[in-house]
Amino acid sequence: MSLHILVTGGAGYIGSHVCVALLEGGYQVTVIDNFSNSHPEALERVAKLGGGAVTLIEADLADEGSIDFIRQQVAERPVHGAIHLAGLKAVGESVAKPALYYHTNINATLNLIEIMGAVGSNTIVFSSSATVYGEGNKNPLTEAAVSYAPTNPYGRTKYYNENILRDLYISNNDWRIANLRYFNPVGAHPSGLIGEDPQGTPNNLFPYIAQVAVGRREKLSVFGGDYPTRDGSGVRDYIHVQDLASGHVAALQFLHNQQEGCTADVNLGTGKGVSVFEAISAFERVSSRAIPFEVTARRPGDLAEVYADVTLARQLFDWEAKYDLEQMCADHWRWQMQNPSGYNG
Ligand code: UD1
Repeated sequence: MSLHILVTGGAGYIGSHVCVALLEGGYQVTVIDNFSNSHPEALERVAKLGGGAVTLIEADLADEGSIDFIRQQVAERPVHGAIHLAGLKAVGESVAKPALYYHTNINATLNLIEIMGAVGSNTIVFSSSATVYGEGNKNPLTEAAVSYAPTNPYGRTKYYNENILRDLYISNNDWRIANLRYFNPVGAHPSGLIGEDPQGTPNNLFPYIAQVAVGRREKLSVFGGDYPTRDGSGVRDYIHVQDLASGHVAALQFLHNQQEGCTADVNLGTGKGVSVFEAISAFERVSSRAIPFEVTARRPGDLAEVYADVTLARQLFDWEAKYDLEQMCADHWRWQMQNPSGYNG
C-alpha cells in the first residue's frame, strides 16, 4: 500500500516541486491550498510531471471555520503524514501587516495539528527557514546556533511554529516532527513546467534577475557593495528547489523509519556561499543575456553572509544537495523563458 501524504500549500513554488517528488516516490498526495498565492494550473502540471493524480482540498487552513470540512475530507482515507508549507512569506508585507502574518501562519499550524490529531496521524514535516537564526552566529550555520532572533514578523512566525511543534512533541512523545530550515530556494523543475511565480515586484534575488534577463524589468539593484565579503556583495546559500523537494521526501522517510516519536531541526542548504555578483555572472553565462545592475544602499535587515552547515541532514536523512549554481540558473531561466508571465501567460 502506498503511503498517503497531505501537502499544505502544495500548489505553491516549493509545494509543487515537493508534490512531484512524492508522486515519483510512489506516495499518494492530497493538497490543501486556497490559491491565495498560487495557481490551480500548477497542480495540473504536477500531475503530468509526477505521473499521477493529486487530490485537492480547496480550503483556507488558517480559517477555524474550515477545520470540520478539511477533517472530513482528510478522514476519507488513512493519512501517513503531512508536509506543511501553507503560509504567507513576504518579509516586507509581514512588517506592514504583522497581525495578518501571525494569524495566518500560526493558525494554519494549530489547525493542522488538530486535524492530524483527529485523523490519528502524527508525522509533520514543517517548512521552516534559515531566517530563524539571528545575527551573531558563525558561518557555516549549525542547527545549534547561538542566536535565534528573526528580524521580522514573517521570520518570527517560522520560529514560533517550530516551537509549537516542539512543544507538541514534548506533550506527547508519539509525534514525529522535522523542522526543515531552508536556505535560499531557487531554480525550477528541469521541464520548465513548474517554478516560482511571484506576484508583483519580486523581493528575492533570483526571480528579479530572471525578470531583468527576460526584459520585464530594466535593471537589478544590488543591495550593498561594501559588505565584508569576497566581492563586497551579500553571500547566500542558494539551493535548487529540486534538491529541497528531495530533502522533504528524505525527511519523511527518516521520520517514518524511527522506532519512536522524535523531533529534529535540520538545515537544507548546499553548504556553499554565493555572492550577488557571482549569481549575476552565472545567470548571464547561462542565459546569454546581459543583466544590467546598479549597486545601491544595503537593504535593512540583510546580513553580509549566510550559509549552512549541512552535516546533520547528511547524517539523519542521508541526503545532500546535488545541483550546482549553473543548474539552478539554467532551470530558473528555462521556467522564466517558457512562462514569461508565470502561470497566467
Ligand atoms: C529572504 C528573506 C528571508 C526568506 C528568504 C526566502 C529578507 C530580509 N529575508 O532572504 O526571510 O526566508 O528570502 O528565500 O528579505 N538582493 C539584491 N537585490 C535584490 C534582491 C536581493 O542585491 O533585488 C541581495 C540581498 O541583499 C541578499 C541576496 O541578494 O544579499 C539574497 O536576497 P533574497 O533573495 O531576498 O534572500 P534573503 O534576503 O537571503
